[in-house]
Amino acid sequence: MLRFLTAGESHGPCLVAIVEGLPAGLPVDVEAIHRDLARRQGGYGRGARMQIEQDRVEILSGVISGRTTGAPVALRIENRDWANWRPRWEAGDLPPLTVPRPGHADYAGMTKYGLDDARPVLERASARETAARVAVGALAKLLLAEFGVAVGSYVEAIGEIVAEIPPLPPEELWRRAEASDVRCPDEAAAARMRAAIDAAAEAGDTLGGVFVVIATGVPVGLGSHVHWDRRLDARLAAAVMSIPAVKGVEVGPAFENARLPGTRVHDEFVPGEDGAIGRGSNRAGGVEGGISNGQPIVVRAAMKPIPTTKRPLRSVDLATGQPADAPYQRADICAAPAAAVVGEAMVAWVLAEALTEKIGGDSLEEMRR
Ligand SMILES: Cc1cc2nc3c(=O)[nH]c(=O)nc-3n(C[C@H](O)[C@H](O)[C@H](O)COP(=O)(O)O)c2cc1C
Repeated sequence: MLRFLTAGESHGPCLVAIVEGLPAGLPVDVEAIHRDLARRQGGYGRGARMQIEQDRVEILSGVISGRTTGAPVALRIENRDWANWRPRWEAGDLPPLTVPRPGHADYAGMTKYGLDDARPVLERASARETAARVAVGALAKLLLAEFGVAVGSYVEAIGEIVAEIPPLPPEELWRRAEASDVRCPDEAAAARMRAAIDAAAEAGDTLGGVFVVIATGVPVGLGSHVHWDRRLDARLAAAVMSIPAVKGVEVGPAFENARLPGTRVHDEFVPGEDGAIGRGSNRAGGVEGGISNGQPIVVRAAMKPIPTTKRPLRSVDLATGQPADAPYQRADICAAPAAAVVGEAMVAWVLAEALTEKIGGDSLEEMRR
């Protein structure tokens, strides 16, 4: 069984993750992890924090001479910002935050945990945690790559700007996304996205967006129709929905499909090469009956606008019960491009989990067999 946990606060010393269940013998390319960490940090519209952090992973256990041993893999990512926070953090000299930001975890978290300060909530609710997930997801990608599975992403919309995604192979869309600071394969739309982000910043506002994660090379048979919590689509949706600010997930163009008749939606079977079966389209997004069907897996996610806005939203000071402006502290204007990279990590994780369940094995060699 593959599983992972993360821990760490946004402005604390570091983030950590423990990954358990990776097979022995998997070559661990640390630079591949660093590349994904850098991709998560990028994107037009990120806040000043990203200039402070330059995420690097330290592997503390479970990897010897560049290969997994089968033991738990412990990862550590230092928070460079800790140096700035440490003196006041350790002296208990940080003023309590008593005005919750609408859209953030502040109010619900304070109420749930009986806190009169939002700081402990926001320290953990912060999407800084997703750096640890991206490192974990990079390990999952390395395992998947051994079996010919690749995972990539692109941004389809930012605010009201919706890209026209050309009908190109996923690899070409990924290549174009990689070359774009908004991760959008449609250059004309990308320019308008940047302008929309600039306009939002100017207005003290923020934007959300839509991103798409695609996995290619996924074999038929991951997940199962036989029980609700084994359905691959359900597991993908939960994993992607767990990304902070993601509020909607669809597999394939699900909401568009819901408006069309069945004969225009379902992917017809056609004779394939060498007696195999082919499909005329992929409107199912690669999953039928909760099982991967051999087509690329396509997961689309809607991210709400960033809750911390420079132009303040109305709130209430929980210490006094009086109206107050929601506080602003350094924040992203738009993080959809970064969230797409986190989306890749979560999709890769679910697929790696489902693959290890399906084929078993304690070593890479045994998995291959
Ligand atoms: C990559 C990424 C970066 C984010 N950056 C910020 C940010 O700078 N400021 C902020 O208020 N929220 C940011 N968020 C969103 C919040 O973390 C999220 O809205 C909050 O934790 C509440 O959770 P919920 O939106 O899922 O309900 C970011 C989310 C992601 C995925």
